[in-house]
Amino acid sequence: MVQAYISGTGFYVPPRVVTNDDLIHTYGVETTHEWIVQRTGIEARRFADAGVGTSDMALEAARSALGEARLEAHDLDLIVFATLSPEHAFPGSGVYLQQKLGLCEGENAKFVPALDVRNQCSGFLYALSTAVAHVRAGMARHVLVVGAETHSAALDLSPDGRTVASLFGDGAGAVIVSATEEDRGVRGVYLGADGRYAEVLCQKIWDIRERPFIKKNADRSGNVPADRLWATMDGKLVFKHAVGTMLAALMRACSAHKIGVEDIDLFLFHQANMRINQYVAQQLGVPDEKIPHNIQRYGNTTAATIPILLAEAVRDGKLRPGMKVAMAAFGSGFTWGAAIIDW
Ligand code: UT7
Repeated sequence: MVQAYISGTGFYVPPRVVTNDDLIHTYGVETTHEWIVQRTGIEARRFADAGVGTSDMALEAARSALGEARLEAHDLDLIVFATLSPEHAFPGSGVYLQQKLGLCEGENAKFVPALDVRNQCSGFLYALSTAVAHVRAGMARHVLVVGAETHSAALDLSPDGRTVASLFGDGAGAVIVSATEEDRGVRGVYLGADGRYAEVLCQKIWDIRERPFIKKNADRSGNVPADRLWATMDGKLVFKHAVGTMLAALMRACSAHKIGVEDIDLFLFHQANMRINQYVAQQLGVPDEKIPHNIQRYGNTTAATIPILLAEAVRDGKLRPGMKVAMAAFGSGFTWGAAIIDW
């Protein structure tokens, strides 16, 4: 049976480093370095410059992943793009990335399908699951999976928004999911969702049931009230559910493969809050060295956290062939997922 494995990884973060002190002094956020570090572990994040879009960062990550896999963009059969911060309401960022990869040009143009995934913090695992299914079904040999976010453009830096604004950063991570006859690769991705909590962490901007969907001013420009414009979150509720659900998702994945937590060599967790991940690790009895973090440097990059962490683990030599990897994510929706990979 054809297996699906990750043949290449890559990531890109914009060069502008924004420390917690920069948030205070440059952006005027009423916070302290101590508050942010104690509650989340975040020390800095990256902000993209104006003019840089989500698919631009994705392009850099994708090129790097293609290079590691020793593939060209024309080898791809499908693009799956996970983001909650696409360039526009529609179309999704996937088609922009497809065009930027040069796939639409010249005699060899290859109009590969481009699919956008809207699952926020677990977007990468939803996208990975889709890619693996395509490869295993024989519908694709090489799939580009990207998680990318431009949060910095849409943060409420006022006292009302500081809790959310302190958490998020920009960046992109990418993997190539390829077919192989070898007995290795992504063993399973286990997804879940609970729509009862859809509005616990959300950014509404408009309500399509209303007429007009955005109130119009006399000059026909739109008027979005502040409570719709910015992301809102009940942080404590998200925290509580994140811990329990990530634990349950990991146990479900282990049990499906008849393995114990101790059989896993490396845990790649969504980087929403270092305290959430430390609590999950403590409950599982997993030593710190098996759980890398980069939230200190990048903050929460939502769909990009796991592929960035993965690409760094490959580059740092923390992830080597033969190792067993577990991934887990939880976030807005609520949506969640866990994956087991034999690297
Ligand atoms: O990937 C998406 C999924 N998201 C998550 O997983 C986030 C999960 N939740 C969390 O990580 C935590 O709930 C937060 C880190 C977001 C917040 O921590 P918290 O302990 O739940 O804080 P809180 O919102 O209850 O606020 C506690 C206090 C409040 O002040 P009072 O009312 O106690 O006087 C806030 O006004 O901290 C204040 N506060 C801040 N102070 C300084 C809130 N944000 C800030 C801030 N700087 N940035």
